[in-house]
Amino acid sequence: SDPLRLGIAGLGTVGAGVVKIVRRKAELIAARAGRPVTISAVSARTRDKDRGVPLDAYDWEDDPVALARRDDVDVLVELMGGADGSAKAATEAALAAGKDVVTANKAMLALHGPDLAQAAESRGRVLRFEAAVAGGIPVVKALTEGLAGNEIDRVLGVMNGTCNYILTRMESAGLEYETVFDEANQLGFLEADPTLDVGGIDAGHKLALLASIAYGVRVPFDQVELEGIGRISIDDIRRARDLGFRIKLLGVAQMTGRGLEARMSPCLVRADTPLGQLEGPTNMCVLEGDASGQIVLRGAGAGEGPTASAVMSDVIDVARGTRLSTFGVPAAALGEVRLARSATP
Ligand code: HSE
Repeated sequence: SDPLRLGIAGLGTVGAGVVKIVRRKAELIAARAGRPVTISAVSARTRDKDRGVPLDAYDWEDDPVALARRDDVDVLVELMGGADGSAKAATEAALAAGKDVVTANKAMLALHGPDLAQAAESRGRVLRFEAAVAGGIPVVKALTEGLAGNEIDRVLGVMNGTCNYILTRMESAGLEYETVFDEANQLGFLEADPTLDVGGIDAGHKLALLASIAYGVRVPFDQVELEGIGRISIDDIRRARDLGFRIKLLGVAQMTGRGLEARMSPCLVRADTPLGQLEGPTNMCVLEGDASGQIVLRGAGAGEGPTASAVMSDVIDVARGTRLSTFGVPAAALGEVRLARSATP
């Protein structure tokens, strides 16, 4: 049968990881998807750079919008990042040209996801974003598919691996925030704009997406309560530990009597719980369905393999012909909501 032809925009860690999987696992993917998956063209800011994988077999486009519009591209795989700018322009161009889009771009989705999904669905296409939330953890599919028969009581979790690394390393090495921040920077963990990580914004984007999916609403991102980890001291961490707690940058979305609450902030978590035991640059998502009970998912929230794994799950679903909306309901059916202020703990 006809191959599904990808155009990959963005060849950073994740983009290169996707190219590697498409090349090395062609047979497995074709078997699972029911048809071959191929790459027609790629695009990135710089052409001459060793990305650890040969790219000569693919056409090169300097302009991601041109890539998105190519006749030999069925799916735009958008891995550039950034809420607006080129990523959004390329996504809109692909949708206007009647192509499906797979993206890992949490910032773009948290701000424009429902509008973009609506643009896709009005043309019979889909916008998919498993990789945008918690990297390799298939939490979007868990919510939209595995828990489709549940009302979701609560979604919570640690959704920024860098912050979890900083907090757990401060505790284990007895180092102050600034020292571990520099260390995380040297390890290449931090986003280009580190405020996205330590300010809780990146994790807030992911929480907003999960809340949209869990509750079938457009979450106004500017109403999500955000507090970062920049003011946590080693003393705070030690005092928490002495009382049997750990400090985590925790996101919680839940429907209460006051309405939907969504908040990402440093929280005390009991040290003997799965969340309390989460170490290093790792993510954990806890899903509570009314029928399923509590489900805990732990894994890598970033990095080449894990994030590319999530991108490929969407690519394979598109190849299989899924018409499932990313948000679990048609984007046009997502309700409007004003978020409630959460009660101060
Ligand atoms: N900066 C993010 C993190 C990367 O540390 O979790 C994945 O979104």
